[in-house]
Amino acid sequence: MSTLPSEIFLHDLHPSAADIRGDVLAGLTRRPKRLPSKYFYDARGSQLFECICELPEYYLTRAELALMRRHAPAIAAALGPRALLVEYGSGSATKTRLLLEHLADVAAYVPVEISRSALAASVAQLSRQFPLIEMLPVCADFTQPLALPEPARAPRRTVVYFPGSTIGNFEPEAAVQLLGRMRQTIGPGGAALIGVDLLKSSELIEAAYNDAAGVTAEFTLNLLQRLNRELHADFNLGAFRHRARYQPQRERIETHIISRTEQDVTVAARRFHFAAGEAMLVEISCKYSPQSFARIAARAGLRVTHVWSDPEALFSVLCLRPAGWSA
Ligand code: AVJ
Repeated sequence: MSTLPSEIFLHDLHPSAADIRGDVLAGLTRRPKRLPSKYFYDARGSQLFECICELPEYYLTRAELALMRRHAPAIAAALGPRALLVEYGSGSATKTRLLLEHLADVAAYVPVEISRSALAASVAQLSRQFPLIEMLPVCADFTQPLALPEPARAPRRTVVYFPGSTIGNFEPEAAVQLLGRMRQTIGPGGAALIGVDLLKSSELIEAAYNDAAGVTAEFTLNLLQRLNRELHADFNLGAFRHRARYQPQRERIETHIISRTEQDVTVAARRFHFAAGEAMLVEISCKYSPQSFARIAARAGLRVTHVWSDPEALFSVLCLRPAGWSA
Protein backbone atom coordinates (compact mmCIF):
# COMPACT_ATOMS: atom_id res chain seq x y z
CA MET A 1 0.00 0.00 0.00
CA SER A 2 1.58 3.29 -1.00
CA THR A 3 1.35 6.35 1.20
CA LEU A 4 0.60 9.79 -0.13
CA PRO A 5 2.93 12.71 0.42
CA SER A 6 1.67 14.47 3.56
CA GLU A 7 0.59 17.65 1.75
CA ILE A 8 -1.87 15.72 -0.43
CA PHE A 9 -5.35 15.25 0.99
CA LEU A 10 -7.49 12.43 -0.36
CA HIS A 11 -11.22 13.20 -0.47
CA ASP A 12 -12.73 9.87 0.50
CA LEU A 13 -16.23 9.18 -0.84
CA HIS A 14 -15.55 5.46 -1.34
CA PRO A 15 -18.78 3.42 -1.80
CA SER A 16 -19.93 2.03 1.54
CA ALA A 17 -20.68 -1.62 2.29
CA ALA A 18 -24.37 -0.64 2.17
CA ASP A 19 -24.02 0.69 -1.43
CA ILE A 20 -22.33 -2.52 -2.57
CA ARG A 21 -24.90 -4.66 -0.76
CA GLY A 22 -27.83 -2.79 -2.32
CA ASP A 23 -26.38 -2.97 -5.86
CA VAL A 24 -25.43 -6.63 -5.58
CA LEU A 25 -28.73 -7.80 -4.08
CA ALA A 26 -30.64 -5.84 -6.75
CA GLY A 27 -28.54 -7.48 -9.48
CA LEU A 28 -28.96 -11.00 -8.08
CA THR A 29 -32.72 -10.50 -7.90
CA ARG A 30 -32.95 -9.61 -11.61
CA ARG A 31 -33.72 -12.28 -14.23
CA PRO A 32 -31.26 -12.95 -15.78
CA LYS A 33 -29.00 -12.15 -12.84
CA ARG A 34 -26.28 -9.56 -13.24
CA LEU A 35 -23.57 -7.85 -11.18
CA PRO A 36 -22.07 -4.36 -11.69
CA SER A 37 -18.56 -4.42 -13.19
CA LYS A 38 -17.48 -1.38 -11.16
CA TYR A 39 -17.01 -3.70 -8.16
CA PHE A 40 -14.21 -5.59 -9.94
CA TYR A 41 -11.78 -2.93 -8.70
CA ASP A 42 -10.88 -3.81 -5.14
CA ALA A 43 -7.13 -3.87 -4.36
CA ARG A 44 -6.70 -7.35 -5.91
CA GLY A 45 -8.94 -6.56 -8.88
CA SER A 46 -7.00 -3.37 -9.64
CA GLN A 47 -3.75 -5.38 -9.50
CA LEU A 48 -5.16 -8.04 -11.82
CA PHE A 49 -6.34 -5.34 -14.21
CA GLU A 50 -2.77 -3.97 -14.30
CA CYS A 51 -1.64 -7.50 -15.28
CA ILE A 52 -4.32 -7.65 -18.00
CA CYS A 53 -2.89 -4.46 -19.51
CA GLU A 54 0.43 -6.26 -20.04
CA LEU A 55 -1.05 -9.37 -21.68
CA PRO A 56 -0.11 -10.03 -25.32
CA GLU A 57 -3.81 -10.44 -26.26
CA TYR A 58 -5.02 -7.25 -24.55
CA TYR A 59 -4.26 -4.81 -27.38
CA LEU A 60 -6.22 -1.90 -25.85
CA THR A 61 -3.60 -0.50 -23.45
CA ARG A 62 -0.70 -0.86 -25.87
CA ALA A 63 -2.64 0.80 -28.69
CA GLU A 64 -3.81 3.65 -26.46
CA LEU A 65 -0.28 4.23 -25.18
CA ALA A 66 1.14 4.22 -28.72
CA LEU A 67 -1.52 6.74 -29.67
CA MET A 68 -0.79 8.98 -26.68
CA ARG A 69 2.98 8.84 -27.33
CA ARG A 70 2.45 9.89 -30.91
CA HIS A 71 -0.29 12.46 -30.48
CA ALA A 72 0.20 13.94 -26.99
CA PRO A 73 1.55 17.24 -28.36
CA ALA A 74 -1.47 17.67 -30.68
CA ILE A 75 -3.89 16.61 -27.93
CA ALA A 76 -2.34 19.08 -25.48
CA ALA A 77 -2.55 21.84 -28.11
CA ALA A 78 -6.23 21.09 -28.71
CA LEU A 79 -6.97 21.28 -24.95
CA GLY A 80 -5.08 24.55 -24.39
CA PRO A 81 -3.20 26.01 -21.39
CA ARG A 82 -4.09 26.10 -17.70
CA ALA A 83 -6.66 23.32 -17.73
CA LEU A 84 -8.05 21.73 -14.61
CA LEU A 85 -7.54 18.07 -15.53
CA VAL A 86 -10.18 15.78 -14.02
CA GLU A 87 -9.57 12.08 -14.65
CA TYR A 88 -12.28 9.45 -14.18
CA GLY A 89 -10.84 6.12 -13.08
CA SER A 90 -7.21 7.03 -12.58
CA GLY A 91 -5.79 3.48 -12.63
CA SER A 92 -3.53 4.48 -15.49
CA ALA A 93 -0.64 6.71 -14.43
CA THR A 94 1.34 6.13 -17.65
CA LYS A 95 -1.21 7.69 -20.02
CA THR A 96 -1.82 10.54 -17.59
CA ARG A 97 1.90 11.18 -17.36
CA LEU A 98 2.05 11.68 -21.13
CA LEU A 99 -0.78 14.18 -20.91
CA LEU A 100 0.67 16.05 -17.91
CA GLU A 101 4.06 16.24 -19.64
CA HIS A 102 2.56 17.97 -22.66
CA LEU A 103 -0.26 20.13 -21.26
CA ALA A 104 0.81 23.74 -20.77
CA ASP A 105 0.62 25.15 -17.23
CA VAL A 106 -1.84 22.61 -15.73
CA ALA A 107 -4.01 24.33 -13.07
CA ALA A 108 -4.47 21.11 -11.03
CA TYR A 109 -5.00 17.38 -11.46
CA VAL A 110 -8.13 15.76 -9.94
CA PRO A 111 -8.16 11.95 -10.26
CA VAL A 112 -11.52 10.37 -9.36
CA GLU A 113 -11.13 6.65 -8.71
CA ILE A 114 -13.24 4.01 -6.96
CA SER A 115 -10.26 1.95 -5.75
CA ARG A 116 -8.54 3.69 -2.83
CA SER A 117 -5.35 1.65 -3.26
CA ALA A 118 -5.10 2.31 -7.02
CA LEU A 119 -5.77 6.03 -6.42
CA ALA A 120 -3.13 6.37 -3.70
CA ALA A 121 -0.56 4.47 -5.80
CA SER A 122 -1.05 6.56 -8.94
CA VAL A 123 -1.10 9.90 -7.10
CA ALA A 124 2.01 8.99 -5.11
CA GLN A 125 3.82 8.25 -8.38
CA LEU A 126 2.53 11.28 -10.30
CA SER A 127 3.22 13.72 -7.47
CA ARG A 128 6.87 12.63 -7.50
CA GLN A 129 7.10 13.24 -11.24
CA PHE A 130 5.14 16.50 -11.17
CA PRO A 131 5.87 18.12 -7.80
CA LEU A 132 4.63 21.52 -9.01
CA ILE A 133 1.19 20.35 -10.13
CA GLU A 134 -1.49 20.55 -7.45
CA MET A 135 -3.04 17.08 -6.95
CA LEU A 136 -6.57 16.78 -5.53
CA PRO A 137 -7.43 13.06 -5.46
CA VAL A 138 -11.04 12.00 -4.88
CA CYS A 139 -11.92 8.42 -3.99
CA ALA A 140 -15.43 8.07 -5.38
CA ASP A 141 -17.70 6.33 -7.85
CA PHE A 142 -17.64 8.74 -10.80
CA THR A 143 -21.04 7.51 -12.00
CA GLN A 144 -22.57 9.36 -9.01
CA PRO A 145 -22.84 13.18 -8.92
CA LEU A 146 -19.93 14.64 -7.01
CA ALA A 147 -18.60 18.06 -6.05
CA LEU A 148 -15.06 18.62 -7.29
CA PRO A 149 -12.45 20.08 -4.93
CA GLU A 150 -11.41 23.70 -5.63
CA PRO A 151 -7.90 24.18 -7.03
CA ALA A 152 -5.68 26.90 -5.54
CA ARG A 153 -5.15 28.48 -8.98
CA ALA A 154 -8.09 29.48 -11.18
CA PRO A 155 -8.24 27.26 -14.28
CA ARG A 156 -9.09 28.57 -17.75
CA ARG A 157 -11.13 25.47 -18.54
CA THR A 158 -12.03 22.09 -17.16
CA VAL A 159 -11.04 18.98 -19.07
CA VAL A 160 -12.41 15.55 -18.19
CA TYR A 161 -10.05 12.75 -19.19
CA PHE A 162 -11.70 9.33 -19.41
CA PRO A 163 -9.15 6.90 -20.88
CA GLY A 164 -9.02 3.13 -21.27
CA SER A 165 -12.38 2.62 -23.04
CA THR A 166 -14.08 2.45 -19.66
CA ILE A 167 -16.99 4.24 -21.39
CA GLY A 168 -17.45 0.88 -23.16
CA ASN A 169 -18.58 -0.66 -19.87
CA PHE A 170 -21.77 1.43 -20.00
CA GLU A 171 -24.98 0.57 -21.86
CA PRO A 172 -25.69 3.26 -24.48
CA GLU A 173 -28.31 4.96 -22.23
CA ALA A 174 -25.94 5.02 -19.27
CA ALA A 175 -23.09 6.26 -21.49
CA VAL A 176 -25.27 9.16 -22.66
CA GLN A 177 -26.12 9.96 -19.03
CA LEU A 178 -22.46 9.86 -17.96
CA LEU A 179 -21.38 12.01 -20.92
CA GLY A 180 -24.16 14.45 -20.03
CA ARG A 181 -22.78 14.68 -16.50
CA MET A 182 -19.31 15.31 -17.95
CA ARG A 183 -20.76 18.12 -20.05
CA GLN A 184 -22.08 19.72 -16.84
CA THR A 185 -18.71 19.25 -15.14
CA ILE A 186 -16.72 20.87 -17.96
CA GLY A 187 -19.14 23.76 -18.54
CA PRO A 188 -19.53 25.60 -21.85
CA GLY A 189 -15.80 26.23 -22.45
CA GLY A 190 -14.47 22.83 -21.40
CA ALA A 191 -13.58 19.63 -23.18
CA ALA A 192 -13.72 15.87 -22.65
CA LEU A 193 -11.00 13.51 -23.83
CA ILE A 194 -12.35 9.98 -24.13
CA GLY A 195 -10.52 6.72 -24.92
CA VAL A 196 -12.74 4.53 -27.10
CA ASP A 197 -11.95 1.02 -28.32
CA LEU A 198 -12.71 0.64 -32.03
CA LEU A 199 -14.69 -2.02 -33.89
CA LYS A 200 -12.51 -4.77 -35.32
CA SER A 201 -12.57 -8.51 -36.01
CA SER A 202 -14.42 -10.52 -33.37
CA GLU A 203 -11.44 -12.91 -33.13
CA LEU A 204 -9.11 -10.12 -31.96
CA ILE A 205 -11.69 -8.82 -29.49
CA GLU A 206 -12.54 -12.24 -28.06
CA ALA A 207 -8.85 -13.10 -27.63
CA ALA A 208 -8.34 -9.88 -25.62
CA TYR A 209 -10.98 -11.00 -23.09
CA ASN A 210 -10.03 -14.71 -23.04
CA ASP A 211 -6.27 -14.63 -22.55
CA ALA A 212 -4.31 -17.87 -22.63
CA ALA A 213 -2.78 -17.28 -19.19
CA GLY A 214 -6.24 -17.02 -17.58
CA VAL A 215 -5.66 -13.63 -15.95
CA THR A 216 -8.97 -12.23 -17.21
CA ALA A 217 -10.82 -15.26 -15.83
CA GLU A 218 -9.17 -14.66 -12.46
CA PHE A 219 -10.07 -10.94 -12.66
CA THR A 220 -13.72 -11.83 -13.34
CA LEU A 221 -13.99 -14.42 -10.58
CA ASN A 222 -12.24 -12.12 -8.09
CA LEU A 223 -15.58 -10.28 -7.97
CA LEU A 224 -17.08 -13.32 -6.20
CA GLN A 225 -14.13 -13.39 -3.80
CA ARG A 226 -14.80 -9.76 -2.98
CA LEU A 227 -18.47 -10.50 -2.27
CA ASN A 228 -17.43 -13.42 -0.06
CA ARG A 229 -15.29 -11.06 1.98
CA GLU A 230 -17.38 -7.89 2.02
CA LEU A 231 -20.93 -9.30 1.96
CA HIS A 232 -20.28 -12.53 3.87
CA ALA A 233 -21.15 -14.53 0.75
CA ASP A 234 -20.16 -18.16 0.22
CA PHE A 235 -19.47 -18.39 -3.52
CA ASN A 236 -17.32 -21.45 -4.26
CA LEU A 237 -15.00 -20.02 -6.91
CA GLY A 238 -14.30 -23.47 -8.34
CA ALA A 239 -18.01 -23.90 -9.08
CA PHE A 240 -18.13 -20.89 -11.45
CA ARG A 241 -16.28 -20.00 -14.64
CA HIS A 242 -15.58 -16.95 -16.83
CA ARG A 243 -17.03 -16.62 -20.34
CA ALA A 244 -16.49 -13.66 -22.71
CA ARG A 245 -18.19 -13.60 -26.13
CA TYR A 246 -18.44 -10.94 -28.79
CA GLN A 247 -22.02 -10.05 -29.82
CA PRO A 248 -21.68 -8.63 -33.34
CA GLN A 249 -25.29 -7.31 -33.47
CA ARG A 250 -24.69 -5.24 -30.33
CA GLU A 251 -21.06 -4.48 -31.14
CA ARG A 252 -19.92 -5.44 -27.66
CA ILE A 253 -18.16 -8.16 -25.75
CA GLU A 254 -20.23 -9.63 -22.93
CA THR A 255 -18.59 -11.25 -19.95
CA HIS A 256 -20.63 -13.72 -17.96
CA ILE A 257 -19.93 -15.77 -14.86
CA ILE A 258 -21.32 -19.25 -15.49
CA SER A 259 -22.45 -21.58 -12.74
CA ARG A 260 -20.83 -24.96 -13.41
CA THR A 261 -23.44 -26.82 -11.34
CA GLU A 262 -26.86 -26.35 -9.78
CA GLN A 263 -26.18 -24.67 -6.45
CA ASP A 264 -27.37 -22.25 -3.77
CA VAL A 265 -25.28 -19.31 -2.63
CA THR A 266 -25.78 -17.07 0.41
CA VAL A 267 -25.06 -13.36 -0.05
CA ALA A 268 -25.67 -10.88 2.78
CA ALA A 269 -27.84 -13.46 4.59
CA ARG A 270 -30.03 -14.06 1.49
CA ARG A 271 -30.07 -17.30 -0.52
CA PHE A 272 -29.84 -17.35 -4.31
CA HIS A 273 -30.35 -20.36 -6.54
CA PHE A 274 -28.19 -21.00 -9.62
CA ALA A 275 -29.12 -23.55 -12.29
CA ALA A 276 -26.34 -25.63 -13.87
CA GLY A 277 -24.99 -23.53 -16.77
CA GLU A 278 -26.78 -20.38 -15.61
CA ALA A 279 -25.07 -17.24 -16.92
CA MET A 280 -24.82 -14.01 -14.91
CA LEU A 281 -23.81 -10.88 -16.88
CA VAL A 282 -20.95 -9.07 -15.13
CA GLU A 283 -19.47 -6.78 -17.78
CA ILE A 284 -20.08 -5.37 -21.24
CA SER A 285 -17.35 -3.69 -23.29
CA CYS A 286 -18.91 -1.80 -26.18
CA LYS A 287 -16.89 -1.17 -29.33
CA TYR A 288 -17.50 1.90 -31.50
CA SER A 289 -16.55 3.59 -34.74
CA PRO A 290 -15.78 7.30 -34.46
CA GLN A 291 -19.19 7.84 -36.14
CA SER A 292 -21.19 5.58 -33.81
CA PHE A 293 -19.51 7.22 -30.81
CA ALA A 294 -20.26 10.68 -32.20
CA ARG A 295 -23.97 9.74 -32.22
CA ILE A 296 -23.84 8.77 -28.53
CA ALA A 297 -21.97 11.99 -27.71
CA ALA A 298 -24.50 14.08 -29.67
CA ARG A 299 -27.30 12.68 -27.51
CA ALA A 300 -25.43 14.13 -24.51
CA GLY A 301 -25.03 17.53 -26.19
CA LEU A 302 -21.37 16.95 -27.07
CA ARG A 303 -19.72 17.19 -30.45
CA VAL A 304 -16.55 15.45 -31.62
CA THR A 305 -13.87 18.01 -32.52
CA HIS A 306 -10.86 15.66 -32.96
CA VAL A 307 -10.25 11.94 -33.42
CA TRP A 308 -6.81 10.43 -32.90
CA SER A 309 -5.93 6.77 -33.37
CA ASP A 310 -2.94 4.42 -33.28
CA PRO A 311 -1.27 3.38 -36.56
CA GLU A 312 -3.23 0.10 -36.64
CA ALA A 313 -6.56 1.86 -35.95
CA LEU A 314 -7.30 -0.43 -33.01
CA PHE A 315 -8.10 2.35 -30.53
CA SER A 316 -9.12 6.00 -30.59
CA VAL A 317 -9.07 9.07 -28.38
CA LEU A 318 -11.79 11.63 -29.08
CA CYS A 319 -11.96 15.24 -28.04
CA LEU A 320 -15.53 16.40 -27.34
CA ARG A 321 -16.85 19.90 -26.75
CA PRO A 322 -20.29 21.09 -25.75
CA ALA A 323 -22.41 21.40 -28.88
CA GLY A 324 -22.80 25.06 -29.76
CA TRP A 325 -19.33 25.89 -28.50
CA SER A 326 -17.01 27.63 -30.97
CA ALA A 327 -13.42 28.83 -30.62
C1 AVJ B 1 -10.92 -1.14 -18.03
C2 AVJ B 1 -13.19 -1.39 -18.42
C3 AVJ B 1 -11.77 -0.79 -20.20
O1 AVJ B 1 -13.58 -3.44 -20.63
O2 AVJ B 1 -11.66 -3.70 -21.60
C4 AVJ B 1 -10.42 -5.92 -19.20
C5 AVJ B 1 -11.88 -4.01 -18.24
N1 AVJ B 1 -12.36 -6.44 -18.49
N2 AVJ B 1 -10.58 -7.22 -19.36
C6 AVJ B 1 -12.36 -3.44 -20.62
C7 AVJ B 1 -11.56 -5.42 -18.64
C8 AVJ B 1 -11.76 -7.56 -18.92
C9 AVJ B 1 -11.61 -3.04 -19.34
N3 AVJ B 1 -11.89 -1.62 -18.98
